[in-house]
Amino acid sequence: MFWLLLYLSLKSIDCGTAPPQFCSSDTRPLGDAINEFALNLYQQMLSDLTDPVNDNIFFSPFSISTALAMTYLGTAGNTATEMKDVLKYPACVHPLFKALLTALNVPNNDYTLNAANNLFPDDGFMIEQEYRNNVIQFYFATLKELDFENNSTVAREYINEWVSNHTEEKIPELLQEGDVTALTVLFLVNAIYFKGDWLNKFNPDLTEPATFHVSPSNQIQVEMMYNQSTYRYYEDNTLNAQLLELPYAGEDISMIVILPNDLDGLSSLEATLNPINLKAALNELLYPRSSTHTSVQVWLPKFEMKLRYKLKEYLQALGMVDAFNFGADFSPLCGSCGVFISAVIHEAFVKVNEEGTEATASTGVVINRGIKLFKANHPFIFLIRHKKSGTILFMGRVTTPNDSGTSNQSCLTKIPCPKKRKGKLSRCCGCKYMFADPKTKRIMTPKAMMRKYKGRKCLEGCIHRKCIP
Ligand SMILES: *[C@@H]1O[C@H](CO)[C@@H](O)[C@H](O)[C@H]1NC(C)=O
Ligand SMILES: *[C@@H]1O[C@H](CO)[C@@H](O)[C@H](O)[C@H]1NC(C)=O
Ligand SMILES: *[C@@H]1O[C@H](CO)[C@@H](O)[C@H](O)[C@H]1NC(C)=O
Ligand SMILES: *[C@@H]1O[C@H](CO)[C@@H](O)[C@H](O)[C@H]1NC(C)=O
Ligand SMILES: *[C@@H]1O[C@H](CO)[C@@H](O)[C@H](O)[C@H]1NC(C)=O
Ligand SMILES: *[C@@H]1O[C@H](CO)[C@@H](O)[C@H](O)[C@H]1NC(C)=O
Repeated sequence: MFWLLLYLSLKSIDCGTAPPQFCSSDTRPLGDAINEFALNLYQQMLSDLTDPVNDNIFFSPFSISTALAMTYLGTAGNTATEMKDVLKYPACVHPLFKALLTALNVPNNDYTLNAANNLFPDDGFMIEQEYRNNVIQFYFATLKELDFENNSTVAREYINEWVSNHTEEKIPELLQEGDVTALTVLFLVNAIYFKGDWLNKFNPDLTEPATFHVSPSNQIQVEMMYNQSTYRYYEDNTLNAQLLELPYAGEDISMIVILPNDLDGLSSLEATLNPINLKAALNELLYPRSSTHTSVQVWLPKFEMKLRYKLKEYLQALGMVDAFNFGADFSPLCGSCGVFISAVIHEAFVKVNEEGTEATASTGVVINRGIKLFKANHPFIFLIRHKKSGTILFMGRVTTPNDSGTSNQSCLTKIPCPKKRKGKLSRCCGCKYMFADPKTKRIMTPKAMMRKYKGRKCLEGCIHRKCIP
């Protein structure tokens, strides 16, 4: 069991950009929203642990919330309402994300912190122009078209390379086989990378093997770091825990460790912790009314872990249901396109040692089309069957389709679908086979063509049009 609750707190965020009118650039409401969602998600992860005593948890609430906010931007109706409720998004959420992303990405000499967003649409997927503009404006996302439909393996490898590039190779395979398919129309992704040295580094000479009480009956040996210095420190009665702030150089970012008073106190801490008492405890720790720093002897184990989550079921349990169903309302993203979220994938890595901390995470949202694709563009078997008796009347395989007996490729003149009918655009559906009269170039139905040319020359001007829904 992991007795530390890690919390990367962001202090004093500098809001660099002026968001649109009527939106304040104070990013704290967004911080509160992400934190509340974080605790709810933590509870979901907790209830799903294979081994509740021994299993660790590590994830990036910021990364998950950002990737889902870009998705939320493309939703409407009940789909949007549910996402807003589960993710606790405040008013002006998109301008606030812009302000937060701007603040996080300000270059500095003390530590490395980068957050990047990207969209990978299938090259045949039409994204509404307004959505495209907004996701670029608010999330600094770039769009890169990939060909999921033709070869999703190539697309997957490209995305994994992008994520790997933005996580210092710590997350080389966010997408495993089958996570994206030929049905994928859009992949939205966030990646965050942080590397910082402790303001007070631990002296490696003082690191020693020590006992760690996983549970009252299970003790293991770990590499325990040690230092004595002055820190922000607070004892919280509600949480029955000690809180300690370990700042990183630059003092914009710090780790907060919440250590239960009792050796086996983690589960009662987890049961008690909520957004209100966490915020209260952090306020007491970081903005105390009286004394500020306390002299503390600190023992902290070195650790490193990487965890991967599929978040769909957790998000559904929290109330985000519609977005995962056929019939989700993604009209701002792509009109009436019948798409839905098929998966939300998260992976996070953290390494803590005497020098400092390296932490990185990536979240991907897979959007698939609701229509199944059946593309017989490779050899297949076919049967012609009498339904009532079940008898196979004919059977065959097609390896080299050959319709030269009935048509002539060079006659396949491209003719646009009939466009106007009483001022209305008529759909192409239904004009499966249309024929252009070789003499007049007029479009004719197969029947009219057969009548006119008695079936003989009909095929000379035949065009085969795909049904475009
Ligand atoms: C499919 O992708 C391969 C490379 O992965 C390419 O050579 C081929 O032309 C593509 N086919 C289509 C129909 O786009
Ligand atoms: C996809 O592309 C990869 C690499 O170019 C190739 O190995 C694989 O056979 C292709 N798969 C399909 C279904 O075309
Ligand atoms: C990853 O980084 C390498 C090296 O900078 C670059 O050549 C490559 O294009 C990047 N790949 C992606 C998908 O961004
Ligand atoms: C502990 O932190 C203090 C304060 O920065 C530092 O001066 C000291 O060198 C550290 N001690 C050890 C043992 O690393
Ligand atoms: C296609 O069918 C035509 C007519 O039946 C025949 O003459 C031709 O040899 C066939 N071509 C192939 C590649 O099978
Ligand atoms: C197919 O069309 C071309 C060009 O119109 C013509 O030269 C050729 O004879 C035609 N072939 C058949 C089999 O009709």
